[in-house]
Amino acid sequence: MSKIRIGLIGCGVVGQGIMRLLHEHADSIEARLGSPIEVRRIVARNPTRDRGPYVDRKWVTVDADAVLADPDIDIIVEVMGGIDPADGYIRRAMEHGKSVVTANKALIADRGHELFELAATRGVDLYFEAAVAGGVPVIRVLREALTSDRVVALKGIINGTSNYILSRMEEQAGLSFADALAEAQSRGYAEADPTLDVGGGDACHKLAILATLAFGKKVGIEQVATEGIERVSAVDMAFAKRFGFTVKPLAIGRALDDGRLDLRVHPALIGSRQVLASIGGALNAIYIDGAAVGPSMLSGLGAGALPTAVSVVSDIVDVGRNLRSEARGRVQHTARGAEPALVQDLSDHECRFFLRFSVRDESGVLGRLAGLLGDEHVSIEQMVQEGQGDRPTAVVMLTHPAGEGGVRRAVERIDALPEVVEPTHVLRIEEDRP
Ligand code: HSE
Repeated sequence: MSKIRIGLIGCGVVGQGIMRLLHEHADSIEARLGSPIEVRRIVARNPTRDRGPYVDRKWVTVDADAVLADPDIDIIVEVMGGIDPADGYIRRAMEHGKSVVTANKALIADRGHELFELAATRGVDLYFEAAVAGGVPVIRVLREALTSDRVVALKGIINGTSNYILSRMEEQAGLSFADALAEAQSRGYAEADPTLDVGGGDACHKLAILATLAFGKKVGIEQVATEGIERVSAVDMAFAKRFGFTVKPLAIGRALDDGRLDLRVHPALIGSRQVLASIGGALNAIYIDGAAVGPSMLSGLGAGALPTAVSVVSDIVDVGRNLRSEARGRVQHTARGAEPALVQDLSDHECRFFLRFSVRDESGVLGRLAGLLGDEHVSIEQMVQEGQGDRPTAVVMLTHPAGEGGVRRAVERIDALPEVVEPTHVLRIEEDRP
């Protein structure tokens, strides 16, 4: 059988994981593909660096253009990350008639629509399973397994670093956000720039990709309402637990009856018996609600050399199968030719809220809080007040379902009261339906 010949761009942690997997699973991969896979060239910035036992330095070059144009290479695999120069490399590879496998979520989220058009025009494949949730095969499920269904909603934990941090804060009462982040970094979970993880940007990119596939509309990253987990404190965690909730970093996509999409990335309280509440540590999970299939969930490791390599190499095998059977472009991207998504404004979103006020314990304060909430038709469902000696008193309220716009207006007025000593913490409560 003729070989499937690869040019690998980037040889960091994921690239080395790919090389290891191709070596260790070579026999079973060849049996499944019907051809061996050979990595012919590797493009890396430093060709002399030691990259472990599966990378021979003589394959490594700095000359990306030579690899992209090499007629003896069938598939370009891009795992260098970042928008530039990866974008140019992928476009040039496709212009040279090569199919591409990439793990680059930022690029697919930001410029995927153009890249899929180019792939279709050039009659090549562009696969990207590893771009979302590392080793969890959610892209394949949305593109292929659920192709006969209509996705109504999806709800995921798709940033492992954020999940690790909130899980640790829940396990260890009093653990601060900063200490939990330092632990996540020391375990190697966080991105080089951890603000992408804890600020929600990483999950925003991933949700834009998932929502595009799930709902068949072009979703831009700027359409995802994105908030990070940085403001979740040990005190919020403790109160959430007292009310029977856990705090999770969620990414939510929902098709509304009026044709708009509800797209949000933010920390949220979920009932501790909800299925996503059990997804702890750095695990990822995506809960999908299909109109016909009903609810289903995928869970696993969203990062790490080998889990990510599993997705990349499975893409190589799929693209290799398409090459062998002359069926390139077999699985078209759902958003090709689709309309841009129309998205619900966050101020129109309705849900229950967790509000934690920090106030001076003086007569009339509670009445003023309740009055300002009432002015915006925000009704209180439950309330706890806890004095802390000389420190500000925490007043925690759970609201009945309320419009986000009204809650924000009320909180803005509350935070301007002289007896309110810290900005109010506002967290959404996400109900069991996805
Ligand atoms: N830093 C990401 C996470 C992994 O924590 O989930 C890669 O997307």
